[in-house]
Amino acid sequence: MKPFSILRCDCLDEIKSETLSYIEDQHPELLNQSSLWHKSDTGAYMARRPTVANWFHSMGWKIREISFTVMTEMKDIGLHVDEGPIVAKVNIPILNTANTFNRWFKIQADAMQDVKYEKINEFGSLYKDFSQLPTSLLDPVGEYELLKPVVFNSAMPHSVHLNSDAVLPRVVMSCMTFNDISSLLV
Ligand SMILES: [Fe+2]
Repeated sequence: MKPFSILRCDCLDEIKSETLSYIEDQHPELLNQSSLWHKSDTGAYMARRPTVANWFHSMGWKIREISFTVMTEMKDIGLHVDEGPIVAKVNIPILNTANTFNRWFKIQADAMQDVKYEKINEFGSLYKDFSQLPTSLLDPVGEYELLKPVVFNSAMPHSVHLNSDAVLPRVVMSCMTFNDISSLLV
């Protein structure tokens, strides 16, 4: 499978401004707290009939859940695999994603299966934390500066790298769909 696939979106500016306005109204604290998975009230967001819902609709998809990844420190997010069972989600750049890079790596099958890398997140879901894996065991397979929405392979080990020109806070919205969109990663 591919690590990511760029989506054409003609309404990214509207999505960014609507989402920032939603965060500032409903979750202003979110911009001060680093988190891989800020879960949000998807129903409250969708009740505003946001542009992102129409954009998904135009592709034949429906949003099931949104969450936000927020970075407030000049510190990379270590290598990990998101909680399952979703393999493919849509990641949308909302704020300060220039000079920030998603990186995907292939790691050996025995490490992928090793339970010592399993962790439970704050929602009680299992994810895998490979941040302590020796770099000699990592095989880079892709990198993307998140400037456009992508179908994101969250089942492949990935990290976020900030270069010295990155600006904080960095905010990305992840959308999980009712549809299986993993075919875009084949
Ligand atoms: Fe992730």
